[in-house]
This record gives sequence, C-alpha cells and structure tokens, in this order.
Amino acid sequence: MKTIDELLAEGVAGKRVFVRADLNVPLADGVITDDGRIRAVQPTIAKLAEAGARVIVASHLGRPKGAPDPAFSLAPAAARLGELLGRDVAFATDTVGASAKETVAALADGQVAVIENLRFNAGETSKDDAERGAFADQLAELADVYVGDGFGAVHRKHASVFDLPARLPHAAGHLIATEVGVLKKLTADVRRPYVVVLGGAKVSDKLAVIDELLGKADRILIGGGMAYTFLKAKGHEVGISLLQEDQIPAVLEYMERAEKTGVELVLPVDVLVSTDFPDLKGKTPAVFETVDADKIPADKEGLDIGPKTRELYASKIVDAETVFWNGPVGVFEHPDYAGGTTAVAQALLDSSAFTVVGGGDSAAAVRTLGFDENAFGHISTGGGASLEYLEGKTLPGIAALEG
Ligand code: 3PG
Repeated sequence: MKTIDELLAEGVAGKRVFVRADLNVPLADGVITDDGRIRAVQPTIAKLAEAGARVIVASHLGRPKGAPDPAFSLAPAAARLGELLGRDVAFATDTVGASAKETVAALADGQVAVIENLRFNAGETSKDDAERGAFADQLAELADVYVGDGFGAVHRKHASVFDLPARLPHAAGHLIATEVGVLKKLTADVRRPYVVVLGGAKVSDKLAVIDELLGKADRILIGGGMAYTFLKAKGHEVGISLLQEDQIPAVLEYMERAEKTGVELVLPVDVLVSTDFPDLKGKTPAVFETVDADKIPADKEGLDIGPKTRELYASKIVDAETVFWNGPVGVFEHPDYAGGTTAVAQALLDSSAFTVVGGGDSAAAVRTLGFDENAFGHISTGGGASLEYLEGKTLPGIAALEG
C-alpha cells in the first residue's frame, strides 16, 4: 500500500488530489455534535494543501436514498473543516455536476474544496458494478490522484471507496495507515490478558466479531442493549428490554463455546430499569430503579449496567494488557444512564493496558462524557470498519488501495 508520504515525496503541487474521507459526523438540528472524524482526517488534507495540491474532499453523511436531501448535506462538515484547517474551504453543491466541475476548476494550488454528499448519487452505493463504475468514472474526471483516508467506510464496496482507486494513481492517507497499524496489533501477537468490551443495541451486528473473538480474547464483557439477548438466553426474564429472540440460538452456542474454550463471557449482574425510554432531547430526569439482572420486572426495560456490574467490569479490566471496546453499555446520551459507559471508560484509563476504543458511538461517548481522548491508546473512527477488520474480513477500501 503506497503511503501518502511516498506520494508527497513524488510531488503533488498543481495536481488535483481526491481525498475520500469519512466526514459522517453526528448532527443535531444541523449542528455537529462530535467533530472527531473531521479532526482525524485533517492532517492528511493539511499536508496535501501545504504541498500545493488542489484538494478535493469527498465523503458520505448518513444514509440518504441516492438523491439530494438537504438533511444530509455536507455543508456543516465543510465549514468545520475550514475552521480546523484555518483556511477557506470551497463547497460544491453537487457531486459530479456543474457545481463540482466549476469548484474544482477554480481551485488554485494549495486550495481545498469539499463536494456534496456522495450518497446523493445512486451510483455510490449501487450493488450493480456497472452503475457504480459509471459514477466512479465521473468522479475520476475530477482528479489526477486518489488518496483513501475514510477509514470508517473502508468496509463498504462503494464507488468512491472501491471503484475509484482502480481508476487513478492511489495512496493511503495518514488516518488509514494509523488505524490499520493499531488494529493489526489486536490481531497478531496481542498482549494478554486481552479484554474486549462489547455494547451497543443489536447483538446481530456483533455476532461475527464475537465468533472471531472467542478464539482470540481472554474475556468478553457484554453490555448495552445486546446484553438482554444474552440474559434471556441464560433463562432470565428481561421485561420490555431490547431483545432479539431470533439470535438466542447463536448466543447460546457462543456461551457454550466460551465455557469449553475457557474464554470468560461476562454478563451484567445488575441493571438500571425503567418503564420509559429517557427523553434525550430535553433530558428531563429519568425515573429508574436498580435491580439484579435476573429480576427485571415484566413492565420495565434495562437502560444501563448497574453499580455492581460496573465494579465487576472494572475488576476484569484492571489487569488487562490489551483492551478493545466497541459500543456504549447504556443510554449514555441521557446523564442518568451514562454511569455505566463512564465507568467502562474510566476502567480503561485506570488500567495500564493498550486501549483501543472503536465505533462512532463509543468514541463520541468518550468525548461527550468529558474524557481526554489522548489518554486512550487509540480512538478508532471506524465502527463497522474496525469490527469487520477484527472479524478477519477483506475490506474493499483497503484491498483497493493495495491493488
Ligand atoms: C460509519 O458511521 O460507521 C461509517 O461512516 C459508515 O457509514 P455507513 O454504515 O452508513 O456505511
């Protein structure tokens, strides 16, 4: 995989360099609530601009349906990128249309432009190779060189991620190089004990990674909405908690395999429960009680791990040499249910382990809960991407850069 340093050494002055970034940041009423992904790709863009390239930054945001939708505009991300770079950033209101062509043509050496959300064009995400290829052909006309630095999207076989690098000389940006370097440490010769904390809503999203980790990790701690499918599989009633009944057979098989192979699969022993999901906008105080995990009332749902579980998890993390954490263990967006996720973050910091936080939600949680992100070994910008890497899958966006 050619690095951006090699590309810079060859010289990029005057060249139109297309940077595929992942500027898929969370927005609330058009305002960015966590700019981590923009900050993460900024060094690559800054270096290219300083070296005199004409930089075209492209990304997706959210999941629009292949047509323009103002709710998913990249304009706020472009504005924030300009602030971070400390320079003007032009914005094209389309992807490969008149605005993009004019904006790129107007770029002087060292200037930066962002083009509109790639997913406003159906070709970006199409399953049809020809449709994706046709969009990639149009994108290729905008640029002379391609730099892949959207780590969060490398698991997507999309036009700008997979097809475009095949059409242009290409290199990997700093972010992709860093992310891959860190994740390699979790797959080859990992330092033990290796502890994995998995949270988030859906167990179905994590099945493949659990399957793989059962052969690699020493302990797997389960929290978040997905924990209730495990508790149910263990024979506990979970009230109206998030539950994926159809996943119970898979979960049971994992629990048996963990038992056989000596991997500790640790589940919550107590939880915070309520009859209502909390108000995340006004954040009015929640009404909840703490119950043992095998005594969840029929009319209540679990919304965070309880104090005994927080202590238990901390005790499983304290002597770790390596920790990978993906997914909040409670509804951290509401202060009354942020205690579990805060405790996990604190336990990572209290251990002397090499700590990797993966996934947009856990990374955002760490920052919005006020932790110093530099205190962690690495905060990955990839959610699905880091999981699929750990699953051992070939990631289209990495394979394309290696080709
Ligand atoms: C992410 O948020 O994980 C990446 O930006 C990829 O987004 P996607 O899941 O919509 O493809």
